Amino acid sequence: MPTTLVSGGSRGLGLATVERLLARGDQVATFSRAGSAALTALAEQHAASLHTACLDAREPEEIRQFVAAARERFGGITHCIANAAIAHEGVLATMRDDQIDSMLAVNLTGSIVLVREAVRQMLFADAAESPSVVVVSSVVARTGSQGLSVYAATKAGLEGFAVSLARELGPRGIRVNAVAPGFLETDLSQTLSDDNRSRIVRRTAMGRLGTPADVVAAIDYLTSPRAAFITGQTIAIDGGA
Ligand SMILES: NC(=O)c1ccc[n+]([C@@H]2O[C@H](COP(=O)([O-])OP(=O)(O)OC[C@H]3O[C@@H](n4cnc5c(N)ncnc54)[C@H](OP(=O)(O)O)[C@@H]3O)[C@@H](O)[C@H]2O)c1
Repeated sequence: MPTTLVSGGSRGLGLATVERLLARGDQVATFSRAGSAALTALAEQHAASLHTACLDAREPEEIRQFVAAARERFGGITHCIANAAIAHEGVLATMRDDQIDSMLAVNLTGSIVLVREAVRQMLFADAAESPSVVVVSSVVARTGSQGLSVYAATKAGLEGFAVSLARELGPRGIRVNAVAPGFLETDLSQTLSDDNRSRIVRRTAMGRLGTPADVVAAIDYLTSPRAAFITGQTIAIDGGA
């Protein structure tokens, strides 16, 4: 049975991903800074197959220990989903150094360190399970969005990381892809003003914001042998925005 790491599994897309992976039979390890009641309930329900930890993705040593603990508990790592991220909205001219630093540290460096630690273990994964990495980007990496330039830079960086890493790891049988959601109904998008929300819905072909379930379906597919010949891709899941 596959073992899958998911960063930021306490709520939103990360939590929905953890739920889906457990339902399909994976062993799952996830972390966030604070955890959540929903994740604790899930851990009680899936005591044998869900490993949770509280740590800060800005601390590489904590990530290293998390991956080591997951490998120790479950015997290896098959897939890694780099999902945890933060977004500080605001025009660049007034953005503080600490806001820029924290977005780069969590979204980009934290994801890269997590993937590095995971890949070291995934080299020994069962090829029949088609081991893979999925990084969670955002459509704003390519479309842009006023007030999200630094956040968009971190996501564009992740997409560049994924396509290069796909070339590096393909010969070792490991696939690397990105998913790029449009705006989703989660905590991260709660700061959207009503005007902005209506504008986004109006320009979206499907006439609504996305939900975590819309994105989980793609992550489920990409981290399965059904996607064994798909690597180096970014899949936009934005309802036609
Ligand atoms: N929501 C959207 O509209 C949208 C659109 C496009 C792309 N995305 C992307 O989708 C992914 C999930 O977003 P979401 O909406 O589900 O976000 P969310 O609801 O804010 O959840 C973010 C998760 O990351 C964790 N996290 C944040 N900072 C962390 C840190 N320093 N260390 C460890 N964990 C940390 C959070 O837990 P703690 O706070 O407890 O640490 C939480 O579990 C992100 O990569 C986001 O950029 C979201």
